[in-house]
Amino acid sequence: MKKLFAAFVFAALPALSFAAGGHDVQLDKVDIDLTDKAAMQDGARTFANYCMGCHSAQYQRYERVADDLGIPHEIMLDNLVFNDAKIGDHMKIGMKPDDAKAWFGAAPPDLTLVARVRGNDWLYTYLRTFYADPTRPLGSNNKVFPNVGMPNVLVGLQGNQVIGCKQVQVVTDGKKQFDPLTGAPITHEACDQLTIEPNTGKLSEAEFDEKIKNLVTFLAYSANPVKLKSQRIGTYVLLYLAFFFVFAYLLKREYWKDVH
Ligand code: HEC
Repeated sequence: MKKLFAAFVFAALPALSFAAGGHDVQLDKVDIDLTDKAAMQDGARTFANYCMGCHSAQYQRYERVADDLGIPHEIMLDNLVFNDAKIGDHMKIGMKPDDAKAWFGAAPPDLTLVARVRGNDWLYTYLRTFYADPTRPLGSNNKVFPNVGMPNVLVGLQGNQVIGCKQVQVVTDGKKQFDPLTGAPITHEACDQLTIEPNTGKLSEAEFDEKIKNLVTFLAYSANPVKLKSQRIGTYVLLYLAFFFVFAYLLKREYWKDVH
């Protein structure tokens, strides 16, 4: 009976997790490189300029970020710190959560660890899928976070993105479908398609994607600044264990020599 129950629970798990995830918007995949310091520097700059008005990264210190990313302290203070914080301070902000809640309906959460909570693909998709929605109080909505309280703060870079109907190619089991006779793509109308109105943003679509990729790389670094180091330490530990094993074995032989 117990086994049957366990089997049922495990069988039901995927369904439950799906229910918790709500609607299933396809996330765009992003390949980030945590050794790319130029990317993380660009991401840190975007974060300081466009995000820290509302979001803190208070488990992180400016100094640590500067040192990890190879930014000289002077340049960090002049270009990435907009309050009177010192280089050793945590990346806190002045906005009070209660005020923010009144303004946006929700307080902007601290973002130090958000990459671990949401995942890189979610962040990459979220930050690129704000679109104009006049029914919302701040005039915009988001595809992976419906009715989000955050305004579309990157609209100046990305341009005006709108949602609407478009002919899109039918995909079955991950394969694009073509008409077997004519070879033409089989399409259907989908009405949740995002389009950026041309020449409404400072960056091209490809440049904007790159900007967001860099920002996500910075957030991924921020959520796990010791990741690079811990991988290196892991190698040393394994080498040490292999090395130690030899001596442990020799010692064991030595001890048991006279017993047999
Ligand atoms: C004007 C204020 C403001 C700015 C600037 C801002 N945000 Fe937000 N952000 C918010 C608010 C408010 C929420 C909470 C939305 C909600 O819960 O409905 C939020 C939510 C988020 C979330 C979702 C967190 C979660 O897990 O629920 C992420 C990720 C995020 N912001 C990233 C960013 C990034 C990256 C930037 C800079 C490009 C940025 N935000 C700039 C106000 C802001």
